[in-house]
Amino acid sequence: MDKSQYFIKMQPNNHILVLGGSGGIGSEVVLALAANGAEIITIGYGSNRDAAEALKTQAEAWGVKAYTAKIDRSTFALMEQAVELIVKQAGREITGVVDAIGISPNIPFRDLKLEDVDRVYNTNYRGCVASTKVLAERMKARGIDGLFVIITSTNGDNSFSAQSLPYDDMKRALDGLVVSLAEEYAPSNIRLIGVAPGWINTGMNDSLPKGMLEREVKLVYLARQGEAIEAAKFITSVMMDSHSYVTGTTFKIDGGYPRRNPIRED
Ligand SMILES: NC(=O)c1ccc[n+]([C@@H]2O[C@H](COP(=O)([O-])OP(=O)(O)OC[C@H]3O[C@@H](n4cnc5c(N)ncnc54)[C@H](OP(=O)(O)O)[C@@H]3O)[C@@H](O)[C@H]2O)c1
Repeated sequence: MDKSQYFIKMQPNNHILVLGGSGGIGSEVVLALAANGAEIITIGYGSNRDAAEALKTQAEAWGVKAYTAKIDRSTFALMEQAVELIVKQAGREITGVVDAIGISPNIPFRDLKLEDVDRVYNTNYRGCVASTKVLAERMKARGIDGLFVIITSTNGDNSFSAQSLPYDDMKRALDGLVVSLAEEYAPSNIRLIGVAPGWINTGMNDSLPKGMLEREVKLVYLARQGEAIEAAKFITSVMMDSHSYVTGTTFKIDGGYPRRNPIRED
């Protein structure tokens, strides 16, 4: 009997594109991938080129081929251009994508402008549609068994807070995108998995109203925020062949959170 068939490993000949690779969770994903079998990693960034370049240096020091790429998802054409460049510089088609792009402005509903809604919609949802379509269609045309891990949020499931309304609603929409596109691309052996973090200790939560994080952490069963490295290792584990029969679903990594309104008296 061949023991090696039970090893948990990443698909060989891979090239993983980490969108939002310059961010708090994305950068830890890059390192976790580099440590666990990724062969080529492209680190996508929006404005923080320095963070992406520093990560590239670290990943290369660990023996992985690493590249950086500026990502603009505002049109299909710009996304196609970026992907062309990414494939050319790496010399290999993209086989896996982690989408960790997101913004999370916290604005009291009375002050919310429609421009704020547009910004969250464009970055968190419309952009994901653009990159996923361009990349999935490219994989399909080339017969690549691709995998997308889309970082949603538990806010899409259990937050109904007016101050994060557009963020919560767009995260709910991403959970739906994972389901719809999993069905669309399953015949091409392209899978989509959502990962929904709860409270993770990154700069994203700096704009929360005073005291909110402390109150929220008291509700978490494990009574603390998760660290970005914990989220990253979880995301990386989902990319292993142990998850080869998974598509169209979202996993939570949230330290445990009440499923009922915690202030309700039972
Ligand atoms: N932290 C949490 O508690 C938490 C919880 C649940 C879900 N999440 C989700 O996890 C993902 C990563 O969050 P994080 O905590 O790592 O946040 P972060 O540190 O603020 O990182 C956000 C990333 O998104 C990129 N980005 C933002 N706007 C962009 C745009 N228009 N075009 C291209 N890239 C853009 C940023 O790139 P540049 O900096 O290079 O511009 C950065 O790499 C997000 O989807 C977030 O919603 C986070």
